[in-house]
Amino acid sequence: MVFSRKLTKKEMDVLLKLQDFIREAHAESSSHDFVHVLSVLRYSIQIGKDIEESADPFIVCAGALLHDIGKTNTVFSHIHGLFGGSLAEEFLDGIKISPKLTEKICRVVVRHTPTSMIPPETAEEKIVFDADTMDRLGLMGLLRGFIGKEGSMGNILNKYMDRRLEDYSKLHFEVSKRIGDAKNQEMEFFIELFADRLSTRMKSIEDIFKTESFQHNS
Ligand SMILES: [Fe+2]
Ligand SMILES: [Fe+2]
Repeated sequence: MVFSRKLTKKEMDVLLKLQDFIREAHAESSSHDFVHVLSVLRYSIQIGKDIEESADPFIVCAGALLHDIGKTNTVFSHIHGLFGGSLAEEFLDGIKISPKLTEKICRVVVRHTPTSMIPPETAEEKIVFDADTMDRLGLMGLLRGFIGKEGSMGNILNKYMDRRLEDYSKLHFEVSKRIGDAKNQEMEFFIELFADRLSTRMKSIEDIFKTESFQHNS
């Protein structure tokens, strides 16, 4: 199945309108910026084209574009899926999208993140969920993982690795796992190099303390 159908001209116009809204809304965002949204849209299309289940391309694209709209308000960042669902509803109502379609798109927004505690059910919801995970993997994912984090580099890296293993275990489609595997493979070299440099830095600190100039004259 390569999506259930093609996008209509009217739907493309709506998506372009959505793009303008999203670009502006995410203008101040850091790791969840407009580029992240575009990456998730691209991964969503890639996954949607490969799976066997039937998926509606408009719900997938609109859901992908709106998925992190809740992140644009830092106060509600921790419940950004749920909060984003109501922001998306407001916007879609405003541009006269039918209530039925609005509901389907908002479900994608709400269920794209495990933080909402409501797992994705429909093919469209699972596609955007997986696509969002894809942008947390690989070199760009690693760099995004460091943005805004506090603590030592070693701790941030360890937490990042643990979370990505958990993320991988929650993927829904074979194609998502294939993309994830390729990204993990591309990362192996960097992770090893990074871990090695971090331990070398620690060793060199111990060596400094062991040098004669730091010892007491008895
Ligand atoms: Fe998110
Ligand atoms: Fe996201």
